Amino acid sequence: MAIQWFPGHMNVTKKAILERIKDIDVVIELLDARLPGSSANPMLAEMTGTRRKLKVLNKQDLADPEQTEAWLAWYRAQSDTGAIALDAGDTAPAQRLIAACRELAPHRGGMAKPLRVLICGIPNVGKSTLLNTLVGKKAAKTGDEAGVTRIEQRINLASDFYLFDTPGMLWPKIVVEKSGYHLAGSGAVGRNAYDEEEVALELVNSLKGRYPQLLAARYRLEDVDALPGLHDDVILTEIGRKRGAVMSGGRVNMQKAAEIIINDFRSAILGRITLETPAQFEAWRAADEAAEAERQLKKQLKAPRAKAPRAPRPPRNPEAAGQ
Ligand code: G4P
Repeated sequence: MAIQWFPGHMNVTKKAILERIKDIDVVIELLDARLPGSSANPMLAEMTGTRRKLKVLNKQDLADPEQTEAWLAWYRAQSDTGAIALDAGDTAPAQRLIAACRELAPHRGGMAKPLRVLICGIPNVGKSTLLNTLVGKKAAKTGDEAGVTRIEQRINLASDFYLFDTPGMLWPKIVVEKSGYHLAGSGAVGRNAYDEEEVALELVNSLKGRYPQLLAARYRLEDVDALPGLHDDVILTEIGRKRGAVMSGGRVNMQKAAEIIINDFRSAILGRITLETPAQFEAWRAADEAAEAERQLKKQLKAPRAKAPRAPRPPRNPEAAGQ
């Protein structure tokens, strides 16, 4: 069973972003560096259109540095897109954000043409933490503006640099099943939306191929080379056994084992891990597009056929019709 995540509809957020975006030069999208593709909301891409974009891979301290570089390069290769990596340990994020945005929009700047930037991100990606750092150290928070959503706030990072917080909630959107598991593993979707054992098994599945050494080291699993070939539940059972999640009778408590590995992943006790590569994410997206096209086709085939327009009846009395 995939993740059952049905966030509230986002019409209000969408409307507010569309309203705000008219006066925005650069859109910052805050992503989780451990799952950049899955933590992006595709709706935002639709709304921002041709606006310049800055992808900020946040929580880089938890992610695999090599993969973070790969994601940064992938984003930078896209048109009108910049990318930087950041984490809460950065004491001066404002300078890096300002520099990256100015590079994307060199035509803006100075009091007459201040650079206007919108910051967006799904919950738990670290937006409040970053905004608090920006407000606390560098910026003056100007609070609500008349005429815009009540919760929207503007932060002046420089006299000619305005940062607007997203009006409303930008919920994650589960595009493919794997993304759902990654979002659940990272803690970005509500606890009631998933089964921990399933999420843990998917986590094991992702980790055994790319980070078998980290699994072996943390849980003292003996044969690291054999890990990629083992079934996920065999590995999770062994993790539970090694960590003492054993019930009376010697059976492993799989729920407990699942909680252990999920917590170890979230806190990076397992090590710095990135769950997806740009190539993998592209492949998932292509599969999703193909599935969507198939769904649409099936829908069309199921829909009752539109009636063909009736041919006009021949007149009853040809003479009266002038024939
Ligand atoms: P949000 O506004 O986008 O919803 O996210 P928020 O800032 O509340 O951050 C969500 C969690 O992620 C918080 O942890 C926060 O401390 C943590 N976090 C934010 N940025 C970073 C980062 O760059 N690196 C790491 N390692 N963690 C980060 P929490 O456990 O939910 O709360 P707390 O007890 O730590 O405050």
